[in-house]
Amino acid sequence: MKKSVYAAVSAVAMSCALPVMAEPQAEVLHWWTSGGEAKSVAVLQNEFAENGGTWTDMPVAGGGGDAAMTALRARVLSGNAPTAVQLKGPAIQEWYEEGVLADISAVAEAEGWADVLPASIAGHMMCEGTWCAAPVNVHRVDWIWANADVLKANGIEMPTTWDEFNAAADKLAAAGITPLAHGGQAWQDATVFEAVALGTLGADGFKKAFVDLDMDTLKSDKMVAVFDQMRKMRGYVDDNFSGRDWNLATAMVMNGEAGFQIMGDWAKGEFLAAGKAPGEDFLCASVPGDGFLYNVDSFAMFNVDGDDKKAGQDLLSKLIVGQNFQKVFNLNKGSIPARVDVALDEFDSCAHLSAKDMSESSDNGSLLPSYAHGMALRGAQSGAITDVVTAHFNSDMSSADAVNQLADAVANSM
Ligand code: GAL
Repeated sequence: MKKSVYAAVSAVAMSCALPVMAEPQAEVLHWWTSGGEAKSVAVLQNEFAENGGTWTDMPVAGGGGDAAMTALRARVLSGNAPTAVQLKGPAIQEWYEEGVLADISAVAEAEGWADVLPASIAGHMMCEGTWCAAPVNVHRVDWIWANADVLKANGIEMPTTWDEFNAAADKLAAAGITPLAHGGQAWQDATVFEAVALGTLGADGFKKAFVDLDMDTLKSDKMVAVFDQMRKMRGYVDDNFSGRDWNLATAMVMNGEAGFQIMGDWAKGEFLAAGKAPGEDFLCASVPGDGFLYNVDSFAMFNVDGDDKKAGQDLLSKLIVGQNFQKVFNLNKGSIPARVDVALDEFDSCAHLSAKDMSESSDNGSLLPSYAHGMALRGAQSGAITDVVTAHFNSDMSSADAVNQLADAVANSM
């Protein structure tokens, strides 16, 4: 055989043996647009590019993701789903039931996810025995953040009971400082509410109310006490809180305009992105009471056509649960890794506290899904609760009326 013919034949043979791989593509819908969030999502974007992927960004601003979920619905209804979507909790299973989620079990099995993820987290990522989402982190929701100098200057320690919190807040108010930095958006009201509820109802009561939707607990005197404390919280917020984004509330704590914020540890991502140090510039403590409210961010892949997009979904899924990504992303995001085998040496004291409390809570049954961040309930139920929480916070509704409305709203949502 002449040399050139030989070369041509072997080139054909090679191209049969090694099919040209599609170049990974992904259009990624997410709501990570604040300073800390954007820095975090860039870690994934960069890893994807380094591995040959082309990322089309689809950010939908709005903390908590309500606007992103509205955008998602519109895209899916028009038959043009994004390749990958920030999606979490029971919403994953709700979308699966619509028949629009891709099965990522092949990647999950090849990468041994079942061996490196806690069962409680893996459970959220499964749909009828298949893997349908990839977890990036564990955020804790029940945190109080504080400006260290403001507390010191006013002789205030981090509160360990709600009475201490109220006393500290009264002191700050008397000193002309906004006690509680807050943004009047429904999901932020719900975030404060569930932190107060955990501290007031206890872990068992929280589970009965917001996981089991137990009517007796929803209508109990303790729930009246939760709304009483929410009324106090309303008094600790400044006049301009309506519609304020959560990261602007965090900035108020950073610059000393406010003393405290009750928010998940994505707030720590903001402090860190602004160069602030935990223990020096800002303080973190879990809200009064036992328990741990978790909020696991994850991505689901939607059914799309095209080998390049499918390759993008496989690559993204693999990177998301990868050890390096889980470390670097979470150092920026304020959360802790979802994987159990990532060393926490480079993480700060708030992250260590989170990891310790998470494992203790898991052992004693007080590790609980966040209702406010869509981990505990389906949309209809969590939405019904949040509507009442927000209506109460933004009016002079009595606690007793709020409890009655809460019970009715939950009953009607089922
Ligand atoms: C949460 C989400 C966090 C954080 C926050 C504010 O629902 O899980 O990752 O981004 O919203 O946008």
